Amino acid sequence: MITAKRAAWPALESAAPLPAQNEIHLGHEEFTLLRDLVCARTGIELKPAKRELLKVRLRKRLQSLGLGSYRAYHDLLTQRDRSGEEIARLIDSITTTKTEFFRSPEQFEYMARDWLPRRIALAAETGERRLRIWSAGCSSGEEPFTIALVVLEALGASAGSWDVKILGSDINRGVLERAATGVYTAEQASGVPGNLLRRYFLRGIGSKSGLLLIRPEVRRLVTFTRINLLDDWPIASRLDAVFCRNVLIYLDGGVQREVTRRFVTTLNDGGLIFLGHAEHAHGRLNGLRSLGDAIYAAAPSPPG
Ligand SMILES: C[S@@+](CC[C@H](N)C(=O)[O-])C[C@H]1O[C@@H](n2cnc3c(N)ncnc32)[C@H](O)[C@@H]1O
Repeated sequence: MITAKRAAWPALESAAPLPAQNEIHLGHEEFTLLRDLVCARTGIELKPAKRELLKVRLRKRLQSLGLGSYRAYHDLLTQRDRSGEEIARLIDSITTTKTEFFRSPEQFEYMARDWLPRRIALAAETGERRLRIWSAGCSSGEEPFTIALVVLEALGASAGSWDVKILGSDINRGVLERAATGVYTAEQASGVPGNLLRRYFLRGIGSKSGLLLIRPEVRRLVTFTRINLLDDWPIASRLDAVFCRNVLIYLDGGVQREVTRRFVTTLNDGGLIFLGHAEHAHGRLNGLRSLGDAIYAAAPSPPG
């Protein structure tokens, strides 16, 4: 009888955990080697408190590679990873990617209430109906899609006559893949106001029940690509705004300053930088003017 066999073979979930000898120790020296490597390649600063996290996140990978120590893993990364695949995997597994739609809503209120109406009024004078916005460190896409929703709402019926491009970039490949689908659970989209949900999202049915797909007219505005902020940036034209929120906080201080300085060089006169609330733009260093709410305007033609 099947039931008798089941009793003899308990379910996998109740099997004993792997024995302790499978634990691979991550010592201070090995942690330092990996920490320095991560910082050199990404700017990400792994504080000592992250040692356990690093160990847990990499443990399975070491096991599947058949490596007996974190030093051996470091050797692989530095000596045998010609394609860069292994370091990319490492980065994918350690980056903090928490995000949400309409995060720090006051920044989007500023866009809707102040910045975009001024841009629209200016366009009526100059005829230039073009917007270029970069969401750098966009995670799974909630930020660039929020920007797209706010822009579409502000442009209203004239949206079709505007040339709008929003770039979403991240170093983590997994989140970019998810972002490109434009699919979110109802819980992930819970920060989107009801009227915008109805206007810009399609509700899944059948096997897609509980999921929401962003409408093509919104997705069309947003392109996703992998950019490591430490590398060269494939930014061809001057930007009207850069969003880099809750990214710099994970980076080394020198890298933060350098990245902010480079953001300024990508901006149009008066272009804006939106940061996370725990971050600051090294304003004096970069000639930026603070507008409050972690929003900064590039000199020499500050808005407002
Ligand atoms: C906490 S999320 C912030 C997402 C979004 N900006 C927000 O505020 O909701 C930080 C993102 O920065 C990305 N990141 C970290 N270091 C990076 C680097 N050197 N280059 C590009 N992206 C990076 C991470 O992969 C992660 O997705």
